[in-house]
Amino acid sequence: MSIPTPDVLSEASKKSAREQYFPTTVKSIQDNIIHHLISFQGRDPERSGASDIYKALAFTMRDIMVEKWIKTQKRYYAKEKKRVYYLSLEFLIGRSLGNAIINLGLWEEVDQAIEGLGYTLEEIREQEEDAALGNGGLGRLAACFMDSIATLKIPAYGYGIRYEYGLFNQQLINGYQVESPDNWLRYGTPWEFERRLPVFCVKFYGKVTSFQDEKGCYRTKWIETEDVMAMPCDILVPGYKNDHVINMRLWAARASRELDLTHFGEGDYIGAVQHKVSSETISKVLYPPDHNYAGQELRLKQQYFFVCATFQDIMRRYKKQNQTFDTFYDEVAVQLNDTHPAIAIPELMRLLLDEEGLNWEKAWDISTKTFAYTNHTLMPEALERWSVDLLGKVLPRHLQIIYEINQRFLDQIAQEYPGDHDKLRRMSIIEEGYPKMVRMAHLAIIGSHSVNGVAALHTRLLKERIFKDFNALYPDRFNSKTNGITPRRWLLKANPQLSALINSRIGEGWEVDLDKLHELEPLADDAEFREAFRQVKLENKTRLATYINLATGVEVSPETMFDVQVKRIHEYKRQLLNALHVIYLYQKFVTQPKLNLPPRTVIFAGKAAPSYWRAKLIIKLINSIAEVVNHDPRIGDRLRVVFLPNYNVSQAEMIIPAADLSEQISTAGTEASGTGNMKFALNGALTIGTLDGANIEIREEVGDENIFIFGLNAEEAEFERIRNSRTPEQICRENPEVDEVIEALADGSFSLGDRNLFKPLVDSLMSPHDQYLLIRDFESYIDSQHQVNEAFLDQERWTRMAVLNVARMGKFSTDRTIKQYANEIWGIPV
Ligand code: IMP
Repeated sequence: MSIPTPDVLSEASKKSAREQYFPTTVKSIQDNIIHHLISFQGRDPERSGASDIYKALAFTMRDIMVEKWIKTQKRYYAKEKKRVYYLSLEFLIGRSLGNAIINLGLWEEVDQAIEGLGYTLEEIREQEEDAALGNGGLGRLAACFMDSIATLKIPAYGYGIRYEYGLFNQQLINGYQVESPDNWLRYGTPWEFERRLPVFCVKFYGKVTSFQDEKGCYRTKWIETEDVMAMPCDILVPGYKNDHVINMRLWAARASRELDLTHFGEGDYIGAVQHKVSSETISKVLYPPDHNYAGQELRLKQQYFFVCATFQDIMRRYKKQNQTFDTFYDEVAVQLNDTHPAIAIPELMRLLLDEEGLNWEKAWDISTKTFAYTNHTLMPEALERWSVDLLGKVLPRHLQIIYEINQRFLDQIAQEYPGDHDKLRRMSIIEEGYPKMVRMAHLAIIGSHSVNGVAALHTRLLKERIFKDFNALYPDRFNSKTNGITPRRWLLKANPQLSALINSRIGEGWEVDLDKLHELEPLADDAEFREAFRQVKLENKTRLATYINLATGVEVSPETMFDVQVKRIHEYKRQLLNALHVIYLYQKFVTQPKLNLPPRTVIFAGKAAPSYWRAKLIIKLINSIAEVVNHDPRIGDRLRVVFLPNYNVSQAEMIIPAADLSEQISTAGTEASGTGNMKFALNGALTIGTLDGANIEIREEVGDENIFIFGLNAEEAEFERIRNSRTPEQICRENPEVDEVIEALADGSFSLGDRNLFKPLVDSLMSPHDQYLLIRDFESYIDSQHQVNEAFLDQERWTRMAVLNVARMGKFSTDRTIKQYANEIWGIPV
């Protein structure tokens, strides 16, 4: 039954009814907040606090968004043929309130409405918990993509998991990382719609039987399964100042039956509840390792759980308007964010073969034309491989299908390359050995029509190194889509002062057309503009300094250079190299106090995976260095070291606009793209970095003279690992400055005389087999840091460079990235 629109209402009363439910004026926003407080939260407005107001304001914004979402969805049905499904195990959303207010174009009105209620918008926004449903770059990219997709009005949905616990909270105790659960849903979230429909059944385990159908065709049945229900929770994503609102549909696991009646009948109450508890474990917690594959059963179940529910939803929607599958890939495009959702390939095959009765060739043709796969890593340990035994146990039918896909694929290879058994072994989806493994990346490449890397260098290395055989076989399949960031969150929202300054000179419009920032270029030579630019930076640094003091007790001066490295703690990202430079600087300040070096505040933040002890030891080292440096009276205020605990999206929004120097120092050939590098440059920090990931493209854009590049390039690094032309020992012998740094680390100077504490780090640094080549790059890093110092001492020159960085960041908007995906992969012209 449909509810008719009340056409009897006059235009004036329609308008006032709209305003009542979908407010856009200060007065109606206040009325709505009060209405929500009373009617939905049961609060007395006179006695409610900031957290109540936060919720009521969030609901008020959600009301506006849901109306637009309904209209958007209706438009899809009326007009759009093809829809995109972006499948990602992670969406690192952060906070939603500020972003929603900005994108709805209601900042001024909400600001005034909240002030009228006796609060500041800032303190209300502080009430929101981050939604940390991701680990780092991959998850944040997915969130930025949602913003651009909505802004560009692309008919698309994000699909993932509604984890009850997001990425763990990090505390520092005695300099060590200590983790605690991130119970972000403790008080509920106003942003999601928990839906009772559609709810889908997801099967696990059991066995496969085969039979002949009435036409004599071979058919299979997956039986005796353990079932879990998937319940959709929708989080709405508004486009920037338009009428388009999309949704992320995140699945929550629910028991297929409340209580197990067999146990219940036998009086086993606890056993009866057990089933419910274990089913709901599936969406309980986000796995914290980043760039590492661990092979746990629960993780595989998470992957299949969300893929299976998603495809039932896709099929449900598709079947509303289609009787056959002939046009499936003309209406459905599925982007796989890494291999985490790659089980979708055998799942779609299973649906088409077993449920819809299509033959193999037809099903395979549809499937490969539907899927596209994004690779995010070059590191072998991050490539997912599931043991055949585990996959066969959890998903027996899928293993059969994977074997069939592989057999047909290997037959094709054997025909094209007769006698080349080594090639068959290298390219097979199944890795022979004990235990046998399923290589998910091979499955994703074979089962997709597009495979993309996330920066130019990354894509080239995919083609030349790890997927060389596949690139030779499918030369048209590989393509590059350089990552980006959304300028709405990472400039407009994170840095309102800089945004206002930009607006005052070139006007608005850059928020949706970031190339417009080019108009700032001439202003790099305008002394008045530079002064205003510096003033903005100083304000942002002052704010961060206050936060640092609150969070760590360390006093830092906003007048010093803010040298920042914030990202996941990982050996390949080389926070340890930065730490070595801090020791170097410290020694310089102590031994040569007259040297004209600008004072620095070196800021670190980031989480280490709980099981990654080496990364955790690096955190301890940084804190130990801070302890010594920050208390040494000989260096006065010239050097401070800070490790900010619990890095998350909200903290990033405060840190990044306050940075002078952005550390992007991974070993060349290891970081696929990086997106932090883009955020910093867009906010007027200069980069010191290696020729890795998107740093290369940043250099192309900003120009050699506006970035500090050092170290081996990817080819040299690869070569050096084999040739080992200068071992760490040799470098220490030849360079006393490097030697002294290593010596200080080894002799207990930063560990109260304990020579054992940091020995594992010293050993890896001094190993001739250090794959991350820290000591090999250290001298070049020091040289480059000297150039940084020199540039910083000349503030006019520094600001000029910083302005040019901002002006030349247009390429790195996710609007550009998403347009490329839409035009070149999804077949949706934008
Ligand atoms: P879904 O696409 O079935 O998930 O529905 C999402 C929203 O799209 C619904 O809440 C409706 O607002 C709208 N919608 C669903 N089915 C139709 C249809 O057949 N025609 C027009 N709009 C629809």
